[in-house]
Amino acid sequence: MKLAVIYYSKTGQTKEMAEIIAQGMRNVGSEVRVYSVDDSINANYVNECSGIVFGTPTYMATSHWRITQWLMKESGNFSLAGKLGGGFATAHYAQGGSDSAILSMLGMLLVKGMLIYSGGATFGQPFIHHGPVALDAVGNHYEDSKEMFELFGQRFAEKAFELFGK
Ligand SMILES: Cc1cc2nc3c(=O)[nH]c(=O)nc-3n(C[C@H](O)[C@H](O)[C@H](O)COP(=O)(O)O)c2cc1C
Repeated sequence: MKLAVIYYSKTGQTKEMAEIIAQGMRNVGSEVRVYSVDDSINANYVNECSGIVFGTPTYMATSHWRITQWLMKESGNFSLAGKLGGGFATAHYAQGGSDSAILSMLGMLLVKGMLIYSGGATFGQPFIHHGPVALDAVGNHYEDSKEMFELFGQRFAEKAFELFGK
């Protein structure tokens, strides 16, 4: 089964978390490619994917303009409808708007006709309601959240496999 992680990152943290999600997907046997929106993204590969997770830094309590631009404009070159979609964010603070950043992306994925993944509370701890978040200005949260990002990748891939079987 093919999956992708597409992100924007200015200082590298969202990129690092994108790679960790991809590792979680690979742990359960998926083929995964990770792309920055500033990369040349292989349309053939993305079009064959069963699911795509999108990542953003939180800026001004919402998704970064560059991933928003990709979703509004450049995503028209890809077939996203019917695929499983998910989101994650990095941010400074718990009250900094990372949830709004994720929901802003998920809303756009719905517009594109994607099916939105949420493990919600169904898998128990750690609860990941809208998508995983790593906070870089709250104690050890950023480092400690890496395990959760890997688990999210694994859970997302398992759900995509359950839905699409390939
Ligand atoms: C211009 C700017 C605005 C930001 N706005 C927020 C914000 O509203 N809330 C928040 O929690 N963090 C905010 N941050 C922090 C970033 O979301 C955080 O450092 C993120 O991990 C950076 O991701 P990157 O390393 O992938 O670029 C902001 C950072 C910058 C530079």
